[in-house]
Amino acid sequence: MSWLDIDGAPPHGLQGRVRVPGDKSIAHRALLLAARVPGISVVRGLPNGQDVAHTASAITAMGALIDGERVSGGQGRLHEPLSPLDVGNSGTGIRLLAGYVAAFPWLTILVGDASVTGRPMDRIRDPLRLMGATVDGRHGGRYPPLVIRGGDLCGIDYRLPVASAQVKSAVLLAGLSADGETVVRESVPTRAHTEEMLAACGADITVADGVVRLRHSLLCPFELDVPGDPSQAAFWVVAACITPGSDLIVERVYVGPARAGFLDVLARMGADVTVEPVGPEADHTADIQARSGPLVATDVGGAEVPGLIDEIPALAVAASVAEGTTVFRDAAELAVKETDRIAVMSSELSAMGGRVEPHPDGLVVQGIGSLRGGAARSHGDHRVGMALAVAGLAASGPSRIDGWEAVATSYPDFEADLRSLTEGRS
Ligand code: S3P
Repeated sequence: MSWLDIDGAPPHGLQGRVRVPGDKSIAHRALLLAARVPGISVVRGLPNGQDVAHTASAITAMGALIDGERVSGGQGRLHEPLSPLDVGNSGTGIRLLAGYVAAFPWLTILVGDASVTGRPMDRIRDPLRLMGATVDGRHGGRYPPLVIRGGDLCGIDYRLPVASAQVKSAVLLAGLSADGETVVRESVPTRAHTEEMLAACGADITVADGVVRLRHSLLCPFELDVPGDPSQAAFWVVAACITPGSDLIVERVYVGPARAGFLDVLARMGADVTVEPVGPEADHTADIQARSGPLVATDVGGAEVPGLIDEIPALAVAASVAEGTTVFRDAAELAVKETDRIAVMSSELSAMGGRVEPHPDGLVVQGIGSLRGGAARSHGDHRVGMALAVAGLAASGPSRIDGWEAVATSYPDFEADLRSLTEGRS
């Protein structure tokens, strides 16, 4: 097990520019679709974390060829995987792959690490069964490993019982070869990468008023520059907001639908953050500049939650040093992420001097101006590890974050970027 030591606030805060890894959600989908469309697609800027590497291995095991940025795919290439596909720590990987392989008339076994093996799969099992796939697993298919026999699917009209882009995407990926129309209805908007990318590949797909309609489509290859991951950017933005003397820019971050909610929350907290659209995709890509300054508490809940669920660990750190009490509600989903982030963020921030109370649907965070620092643990959760590192940066004393190796699932270079920002070398 490895750890990260942080001495407390760096003398000049965090300074300079940083480019975070390519967006993980987009990257999983880009690989799956590139493997599916006939011909060669080009995907630039894939993140180097383990989660996406597992999805890359999965499509390779099914016959796609990855050569640097070029992915050769097509149904003619793809075949039944000869051994179980291992998604590692990735809930997105297993749920998207479940829908993806359900489209094919073969048997697939999906396995993952101890965390994935404890995550609920009934949310994808149920719609995939309704479409005609056979889905089994531990506890009747509630938990991985999953065993899926697909093919011969028919479209369904499905209202999402949980606000989940993973479930929406699993149904749409299965729907790619289903008979008839596949309709997914969502009451609360969730990230729209699958719909956006399917449209870019020429799929017969429409989205209106929370209803996605997909018909059996011929897809074409695509070229994509994966923008920076807003969920990773959130750590640096919060770190800059709460570490005195900071002024940094996170470059080329995706700020499209249901991904940039953390910026709205920070704006309500009074943070000094500006968003400057950049590049050819300026409608959803931006440089984000953040400077340190005082923060005030806010309430986070309702329809904004799916658009910032992954950023709550970082926002809880910001709330710990803000003036007043911040409430995160309607976020029960936090309990079924890589760890139970309600329990873990409460215990670990408290270990660093914070005052955080767990609730069944979120957290109540009392702002106390400054954290003390101390010994805390990632519990094997990459986002918890990085959030605690950010807490350590704004603390008055030293901190040690144990279980630091978990960060490699999404951001192996986090520590190197941290060093260059604190030394002002970026
Ligand atoms: C993701 C959707 C969200 C998010 C996860 C990535 C995706 O999960 O928390 O990190 O790429 O579709 P849910 O679909 O469970 O809300």
